Amino acid sequence: MGEIAAEYWKRRKGFILAAIGSAIGLGNIWRFSWLTYRNGGGAFLIPYFIALLIVGVPLLILEFLLGNYFGGSSPKVFRKIRDNLEIIGWIAILDVFIIGTYYAVVLAWVFDYIWLSIVYAPQLAAGQLSASTLFSNLVSNSWLVLVGLAVTWFVTWYTVFRGVSEGIEKASLVAIPLLWILSVILVIRGVTLPGADTGINWYLTPDFSKLAQGSVWIDAFGQILFTLSIMAAPLIVYASYMPKKSELPNSAWITAFANCGFSFFFGFATWGIIGYLMSLNNVASPEALKIPLGGGGLAFITIPTAMSRLPGGPSVAAVFGLIFFLVLWLAGYTSLISIIEPVYAALRDKFGVTRRQTVTAVTIISFIIGLIFVFKPNMIDPVDFMVGSTNLVWIVLLEAAVAGFYLGVKKLREYANPYAELKLGVWFDYLIKYAAPISMAIILFYGLWFTKSISPVSLIVMVALLIAAILVTGLKWKTELKETVTAEV
Ligand code: ALA
Repeated sequence: MGEIAAEYWKRRKGFILAAIGSAIGLGNIWRFSWLTYRNGGGAFLIPYFIALLIVGVPLLILEFLLGNYFGGSSPKVFRKIRDNLEIIGWIAILDVFIIGTYYAVVLAWVFDYIWLSIVYAPQLAAGQLSASTLFSNLVSNSWLVLVGLAVTWFVTWYTVFRGVSEGIEKASLVAIPLLWILSVILVIRGVTLPGADTGINWYLTPDFSKLAQGSVWIDAFGQILFTLSIMAAPLIVYASYMPKKSELPNSAWITAFANCGFSFFFGFATWGIIGYLMSLNNVASPEALKIPLGGGGLAFITIPTAMSRLPGGPSVAAVFGLIFFLVLWLAGYTSLISIIEPVYAALRDKFGVTRRQTVTAVTIISFIIGLIFVFKPNMIDPVDFMVGSTNLVWIVLLEAAVAGFYLGVKKLREYANPYAELKLGVWFDYLIKYAAPISMAIILFYGLWFTKSISPVSLIVMVALLIAAILVTGLKWKTELKETVTAEV
């Protein structure tokens, strides 16, 4: 019964880098700079920063505290708060599990692009092949995607299989510094290209009139949740691997600023390159390029198009293509790790299962479910709309409300403060009890109101998720929930 040995990070730095690894992901690279441009350039940084301060950092601190205080995954945390709340934890776990299945498929495309951008550099540079043809060929070549998916899952599986300090911590200690170094190279190349300043002006010139639009604020708040991995699952588990009486609030501030700083910084590479492409094509606005500026299109079409025409010819293009896709893959890989670990941790907490077999089983099942997205890539969007966006908002709303009103956030604050480098004041209680739930409720209603078309796929996923959560909640606990933190404080 519950014979699993407790695992911990070896160093605080390992925990922080793993949390940063979870946060920095595909969302930072292809979503942030696009949202900034679309929502008023530099002016968007205002709602973004407000969202970061009033919900991002408080919720990040909350998830760290919940995980550390209760010492486990979200089903265990919610069950310890109150028996019949366990289901919220399972909904969160199943939700990130589904995110992992398609997130890995996008990473598979990225992995394939690491070598495709080398192999096809000469044809791209000579204009014999367009980046959009290359991308559609890849997405429709399911076998190639399967290879990328198998490699991505194998590396992720191996990392999580090895455990917290030997696997996740070691991988983060290497991957995150490498990610920054490679990004610095891309930013330097981006901003020194001819025409880069025009692109960067489009990225940052403030258009304050946009701030009057509700959608701009919704984008900012939604992006903050996704980018910080505030999903009631990954960070709860990561913080549970810190010993009790650890510093937590400042670690959350560091994680948040490293993540948002990375997004902002990387935007210079993206927009420097777009500016270069604008000057090559002699156009005055980014839209006039007639290639996608946001989402996957930016990563798989626009950037490779620009790379293929870098000064220095195909070999330079190949090197920068390699660096760009490596950055993207590393960012996504450290996030995928943080999606699998909580699934394992939740099963371990409830059923007492061991790491190696469970991680292997979860990986194989994720791979198999991911085949749906390999063969039907257009399913990714409707599924992501549900599990990667809408669900996160209401799950986090419940998390904040339960912690704020039911558990009593003051208790958590008093738990953290003796060891905190930055003390939490009553402001923290107010933000968790009121600011977070109210802004989540507004986002949810506004978001659903304006998205008139919830597709059947989104609904099927939702129903399946809820049924699975009810079933797994109904199963008997095979471990004892004995080691309560309250006894140790
Ligand atoms: N936080 C991760 C990302 O931005 C999930 O991709």
